[in-house]
Amino acid sequence: MKISIIGTGYVGLVTGTCLSEMGNKVYCVDNDIEKINDLNNNIISIYEPNLKEMVEDNQNKENLFFTNDLKNALDSSDICFIAVGTPMNDDGSANLSYVYDVASNIGKNISKEMIIVVKSTVPIGTSDKIKSIISNEINKRNIEINFDIIFNPEFLKEGNAVNDFMRPDRIIIGGGSNKTQETLRELYNTIVMNHDRLIFMDVKSAEMTKYASNAMLATRISFMNEIANICEKTGANIKNVRIGVGSDKRIGYDYLYAGCGYGGSCFPKDIRSLISVAKENDYSPILLNSVEEVNENQKNILINKIFNRFGKDLSKYTFAIWGLSFKAETDDVRDAFSIDLIKNLIDSGAKIKAYDPKAIRSFKNVFGENNNISYFKNKNEAIKDADALILLTEWKEFRLLDFEELSKNLSNNIIFDGRNIYNRKFIEENNFELYQIGC
Ligand SMILES: NC(=O)c1ccc[n+]([C@@H]2O[C@H](COP(=O)([O-])OP(=O)(O)OC[C@H]3O[C@@H](n4cnc5c(N)ncnc54)[C@H](O)[C@@H]3O)[C@@H](O)[C@H]2O)c1
Repeated sequence: MKISIIGTGYVGLVTGTCLSEMGNKVYCVDNDIEKINDLNNNIISIYEPNLKEMVEDNQNKENLFFTNDLKNALDSSDICFIAVGTPMNDDGSANLSYVYDVASNIGKNISKEMIIVVKSTVPIGTSDKIKSIISNEINKRNIEINFDIIFNPEFLKEGNAVNDFMRPDRIIIGGGSNKTQETLRELYNTIVMNHDRLIFMDVKSAEMTKYASNAMLATRISFMNEIANICEKTGANIKNVRIGVGSDKRIGYDYLYAGCGYGGSCFPKDIRSLISVAKENDYSPILLNSVEEVNENQKNILINKIFNRFGKDLSKYTFAIWGLSFKAETDDVRDAFSIDLIKNLIDSGAKIKAYDPKAIRSFKNVFGENNNISYFKNKNEAIKDADALILLTEWKEFRLLDFEELSKNLSNNIIFDGRNIYNRKFIEENNFELYQIGC
């Protein structure tokens, strides 16, 4: 099939690349000219396992094209995906200006019958608004063009995005005529080959399914963080509790890790947006508000442990940070916990020596220049003469500690483990102090 994807960020690039891998001709459009030029020169602005190789391969096969020319992409395709960002407004609601801008541009440029697939995460009712924006623009041109619209949320996890797209738990198709649904079934059958994975429903329920899925996962995280905080007060160990609780088949182990709270480009903004949707509809979402409040409080847990150990004035201290991205296997630092913690440490006078395998460039872009942070090319350089090591992202290379190297470089044998990845007994046997969350 011939497909255009508007918005070539995480979701757009992964969607476009994976669909081209299945033999479709895909035109990825973005209004960021530099990004498109980079992609045409094999420079990919995000890190995602296997993505770079697949992009190159499909460009060489002439299945995948990157362009700023929306009209040409629409003229060349039968299905158009909208995958632009829906970031958070200051009041917590979703900023829909990018989505509406694209809708209006589609209406101005569409020249033939087409299926429009909304992939951006949007509040309930937005797909209907997109439809009327496109219709209004077509009407202004005094022409008649048939188009159908469906909402098809994306559930990929950054760090495993290609794999998640290629092996999804489910594909939700919201709305659309029978003909549209059949076309989407054909498109996705090349990926799943299993009809059970496709779930058809009305458009509003599909929009809500995306929000509800993220809200459920965020709730599990906040729930475990709350239990971890009670564990600390009572002497229980959250790692043991997780194993005990997760072994119940009805519950399972995923998303039950205590830590410094959820971050990233989706959970914080999607929970806030759902809260905002509820309030706009005169409903007070008690549970969702609490999920968010627990998460905000959780961001203070690690810094308070650092203050308790070193005092509130940190001007005499330097901390080594391992990990800047919001989770392993991605360079995404949007709403990453590292930003809050490093800001707090610097505001308290500390100096920072930071290392991340992939996210230093994106962190610098977000955090800006700061004389109190230096960045290092490997984890051992970052710990030299630091007063403690703070682990913030669970990259594989941090899992096994070299105690000789740590003792040689660190001024004190102290580790703050914001991800609970280390074994206390083992760490303490090697004469290190260990601070974790809820254990
Ligand atoms: N990142 C994730 O893990 C993830 C997972 C599932 C769903 N989502 C949802 O998918 C959507 C996209 O997220 P993302 O992380 O890919 O965003 P992103 O910020 O990485 O990418 C958005 C892209 O859209 C481009 N863009 C903006 N306005 C445009 C316009 N008018 N025309 C053409 N291009 C335009 C931007 O330049 C950017 O490259 C969001 O709604 C998000 O909530 C994201």
